[in-house]
Amino acid sequence: MYRIAVIPGDGVGPEVMQEGIKVLEAAGEAANIDFEWVRYPFGAEHYLATGETLSEDSLKELSRCDAIYLAAVGDPRVKPGILEQGILLRLRFYFDQYVNLRPVRLYPGIPTPLKDKKPEDINFFVVRENTEDFYVGVGARVTSARQREELEVKRELYELKFGVDITKEGSEEVAFQIGVISREGAERVIRYAFELAKRERMERVTSVDKANVLTHVYSLWREVFEEVAKEYEGIETEHNYVDAITMYFLSMPEHFRVVVTPNMFGDIITDLGAQIQGGIGLAPSGNINPEGVSMFEPVHGSAPNLKGKGLANPVAQILAGALMLRELGEGEAAKLVEQAVAETLREGVRTPDIGGSASTEQVGSAIAEKVKALAEG
Ligand code: IPM
Ligand code: MN
Repeated sequence: MYRIAVIPGDGVGPEVMQEGIKVLEAAGEAANIDFEWVRYPFGAEHYLATGETLSEDSLKELSRCDAIYLAAVGDPRVKPGILEQGILLRLRFYFDQYVNLRPVRLYPGIPTPLKDKKPEDINFFVVRENTEDFYVGVGARVTSARQREELEVKRELYELKFGVDITKEGSEEVAFQIGVISREGAERVIRYAFELAKRERMERVTSVDKANVLTHVYSLWREVFEEVAKEYEGIETEHNYVDAITMYFLSMPEHFRVVVTPNMFGDIITDLGAQIQGGIGLAPSGNINPEGVSMFEPVHGSAPNLKGKGLANPVAQILAGALMLRELGEGEAAKLVEQAVAETLREGVRTPDIGGSASTEQVGSAIAEKVKALAEG
């Protein structure tokens, strides 16, 4: 019996979540796994009604779950950043989910924008660091010395004319934000990447950085990568600059096996990864703390414009469920879900974003049925 916290969130979140749970229930039945779904209302409605994103009490409650299954948060009525930081990033940091695992896999028959590339050419993992780098939230807007001088000169004039003191509030025209890499933080995620390569029998680990410009943070990242790599004989290693890897994702995706990257670059290159695997509607992600509570979600957001139309692709949410099963130690059930997704897509049961005409609900039900059919064998 697994106790799973469910956060459907905003926009199309609840619609894709319903299909995710449907498929996991089917897989559970086939593999003798019981789920207890504990629903939480976090998201825009809850925030607008209560002013609260996530409470300390609910975080404590969530820590008693085996995993968190999240759909998406984000709503045009709420200022950008509030829900993302207050819910998504808060959960990642609170539970120290230091690995963001994002498989990039092209399923058979799915159109990719890459000409002549086949499923066997697009099949790798991005392991994104998930708690450091530019996501630590350290920074400020400040007033520079020169700006302050200029402002002093104009101050009296403005005060007379507009009745405001421009040297106060809101006149900060310089901003900075700091990225942080720690040895410990880099080491644990890089080690995870190598262990993944070993487990999956993948022959190469690629490290991403920008050590030629952001020399302080990413030279430490590089150093740690080199050190950890020494422990894994037989696994090839290389460094790619982040700008260059965006080219290589397009020109030679078949080269990549496991890619390990600092947080912010990982955010950017995994949207690209999602596109080459057929679109953001197909890309799942796991926020993993191997020793703690992990959280599984699609890479896509809440897509408020699609809400309630039955157009959202539930596959990313369903595949996130498969990642959750695997992390819970239910590898067979995870495989079953992935196989059911592959076959359902191959048969052409697809939402419009990938060239089909089926609804969110139809795709979810077809995959759940396929799970049952495969299990009965
Ligand atoms: C993602 C998202 C988040 C991120 C945002 C919504 C905070 O883009 O999961 O990739 O930057 O990590
Ligand atoms: Mn992103």
